[in-house]
Amino acid sequence: MKHHVKDIKLAAQGKDRMEWAFKSMPVLSQIRDRFIKQKPLKNIRVAACLHVTTETANLMRVLKDGGADVTLCASNPLSTQDDVAASLVKNYGIPTFAIKGENNKTYYSHINEVLDRKPQMTMDDGADIVSILHSTRKDLLKHIIGGTEETTTGVIRLRALENDGLLNYPIIAVNDAKTKHFFDNRYGTGQSTLDGIIRATNLLIAGLTVVVIGYGWCGRGVAKKAKGLGANVVVTEVDPLKGIEAVLDGYSVKTISEAAKVGDIFITLTGNLNVIRKEHFTKMKDGAVICNSGHFNAEIDLPALKKMAVKKRLVRGIIDEYTLKNKKHVCVLADGRLINLSAAEGHPASVMDMSFANQALSAEYMVKNAKRLEKKVYVVPQDIDENIARLKLKAMKVGIDKLTVEQVDYLSSWNMGT
Ligand code: ADE
Repeated sequence: MKHHVKDIKLAAQGKDRMEWAFKSMPVLSQIRDRFIKQKPLKNIRVAACLHVTTETANLMRVLKDGGADVTLCASNPLSTQDDVAASLVKNYGIPTFAIKGENNKTYYSHINEVLDRKPQMTMDDGADIVSILHSTRKDLLKHIIGGTEETTTGVIRLRALENDGLLNYPIIAVNDAKTKHFFDNRYGTGQSTLDGIIRATNLLIAGLTVVVIGYGWCGRGVAKKAKGLGANVVVTEVDPLKGIEAVLDGYSVKTISEAAKVGDIFITLTGNLNVIRKEHFTKMKDGAVICNSGHFNAEIDLPALKKMAVKKRLVRGIIDEYTLKNKKHVCVLADGRLINLSAAEGHPASVMDMSFANQALSAEYMVKNAKRLEKKVYVVPQDIDENIARLKLKAMKVGIDKLTVEQVDYLSSWNMGT
């Protein structure tokens, strides 16, 4: 079996960690039991480009148990857990192409390895597979029946492709399911981002000023967790509604230029380009820490920082300290790549349970419905989303109420007033 992992001898450790994570994935576990019996993905070749973590590995197993012929590569050069990649190959027979710290050339060669298997379905986190299929590997598009996309940034890229009239097959935006972004983006990113910053720096968050750049679902989660740890949280936004929301949620809202002067830690979560730039670096306090938790490493203008710095030094693990002409230092974590997956282990398994339940059920839905779907980006069907929420509550042993018949009637009537 073709594969490319760091060290196959790490497999036993990876298997133990996968099994540990699976204990917190009850929804995916129930889907697995059904998939084993029904094989809804029988003989479907799936190309997955996801963060290679314990949680992803469990999703890969479930797809394989559902009959799929799965191949996996990394969706980020720094997020791979090498023991997990080894276990997928050795213990589960899943061709995996991923090595933590791989350079850009290897990263793309891994995607091409996965594509060489002529997939019928794609499962992306950031739309890199789709982007390559629509540019350099167009010859393979004829085999594809559909795909899924995990993250906000990927969905934005896909909608742009659709708007340009170029999207060649239907894709389900898993990110847009409520059981995905309400929990994964908010609670998952909230916790794992701070986990990454703390593991990378060992700083005490209490008493520091943490600047959260972008107040989408991820930013909201990070702001809340930082506040919970005792930080003074400053939020920056470009959207007036989100700006008001952040104020009413109790945060100080400033422009990035204002925030640059007061922040101790800066976290970008906008999904956009060069949000921290030259004019901001020069205003920062000596020792300011900057990191990114958005999908791509494009949010911090590192080329500008490299140009303006008089010195760059690795001061600890993944912390690069840049000395500026004004003698002040700014510290960049993980070269601006996703801090939660570079320095920590990504979101905990219990939130990935819902995200990946959406992936598994969307893949099944795609196999059943691909023929009637158009070349568009689709949301996850509401019944799938609601069913995942119900299964999760049940697994948590949390009961909720049912509407009475009278209440159902009331909600559907227009003539009952004062
Ligand atoms: N994205 C964020 N956290 C993740 C995780 N634990 N596994 C896969 N993808 C992720």
